[in-house]
Amino acid sequence: MSAQPNVLVVYFSRTGMTRRIAELLASEIGADIEPIRQQGKHPARAGVRGYVRSLIEALGQRQVKVMPATHDVSAYDVVVVGSPVWASHASAPALAWLKENGGQVRRLALFCTLGGHGGQPALEQMARTGGKSPLACCEITAYDLRRRIDGTKRQEFGKRIRHRLSTFQQTERML
Ligand SMILES: Cc1cc2nc3c(=O)[nH]c(=O)nc-3n(C[C@H](O)[C@H](O)[C@H](O)COP(=O)(O)O)c2cc1C
Repeated sequence: MSAQPNVLVVYFSRTGMTRRIAELLASEIGADIEPIRQQGKHPARAGVRGYVRSLIEALGQRQVKVMPATHDVSAYDVVVVGSPVWASHASAPALAWLKENGGQVRRLALFCTLGGHGGQPALEQMARTGGKSPLACCEITAYDLRRRIDGTKRQEFGKRIRHRLSTFQQTERML
């Protein structure tokens, strides 16, 4: 295994929390980073209308279109995808990105940010949509941020990714 795995962090964020976690994680593990952008006219997600639009998309499992990835996702050892939790679902843009790009991703890791409930089903939905069993998953809640334990959770997540990747690569070399 190379000393420093080649990692890409991809995220969608409506109000900045997932972006903040993605940026900190990427800088801590030395990863490249890419935001998920919707295609065409960006539906306004700010304010009450944006909240309701996002909620309807999540509950109705509505498909949205996202811009093609700017990085070559197949060139990375691991792609980490982050999303906010919307009504115990993953965000529609993160799901659209996983549907488009999951097939090219070699290994997947997932994280979500949330108020406090519904992280597990959202992560499971992301894994199903990406078509891969994730190396590692992480939930960062508003409580974690208040208690300032999000840094510890990010570091543990980064360690789990590196450890699982190393195990996979050793097994692959033996085959
Ligand atoms: C439409 C909508 C639904 C949400 N549903 C949940 C939920 O089911 N559980 C939860 O803990 N937080 C929920 N939240 C809160 C967000 O997951 C949380 O604030 C997240 O960190 C926002 O990330 P962002 O700033 O990157 O958009 C919801 C937010 C929105 C906009």
